[in-house]
Amino acid sequence: MIYGVIGDIHSNYDALTAVIDELQQENVDKILCVGDIVGYAAEPVACIELLIELNCISVAGNHDYAVVDKFPVGYFHADARAAVFWTREQLSHIHRNYLQKLPLVVELDEITLVHGSLNHPECFYYIVTEPDAQLSLDLLETPICFYGHTHVPLAILLDNGIRYVERGSIIDLNAKEKALINVGSVGQPRDWDLRACCVVYDSEKKIVKTKRVKYNIKHAVEKIYEAGLPGINALRLTESIS
Ligand SMILES: [Fe+2]
Repeated sequence: MIYGVIGDIHSNYDALTAVIDELQQENVDKILCVGDIVGYAAEPVACIELLIELNCISVAGNHDYAVVDKFPVGYFHADARAAVFWTREQLSHIHRNYLQKLPLVVELDEITLVHGSLNHPECFYYIVTEPDAQLSLDLLETPICFYGHTHVPLAILLDNGIRYVERGSIIDLNAKEKALINVGSVGQPRDWDLRACCVVYDSEKKIVKTKRVKYNIKHAVEKIYEAGLPGINALRLTESIS
């Protein structure tokens, strides 16, 4: 089985369609998403509808839940909060229902999906420090967990009791005990590479490939300004701002 794994799309439809084209060229059988489908950019409806059309299995991100009042907007900075309020105005009950029903954690064969951390996933903690990573590794009940939230792709691997980080574009999971794979961000990368990010996982070969995909950033930026969303949300696509 070949999985395409995406996340942190943040209503950036130009980036999402470029990534889906790339995944289709990779002949993926199934698309999985680690959440934050909406927020920041201008096309929440188109993004949700494409994921529904693709039968994508997704967990919820903090922005998805904030839009449907399942996570407090008080945790957001002003520009993210403005996008939450704007997004609420764009959605029909079908889209709201879709976001509301997204689970916090999905287990699928050998794969777990979560947005932030397995430690209280409803709190959307970031995995940043070694103890954060260890907590999630301890709680992980499958060999592999795909996650997001930081918008920075990397792999945290447990190999013979030794934990280490890999940042390469190809990660070999053969003989690894456990792996936390951050799939990066489709719609708003924060690792000094402005191209959209996604992951391809071949479950037979046990190989994860991180892919970077060029898309029309100018187009996405124009739509953010046209929608009247905060300018910083557009700027985040043209320079790395965390
Ligand atoms: Fe995000």
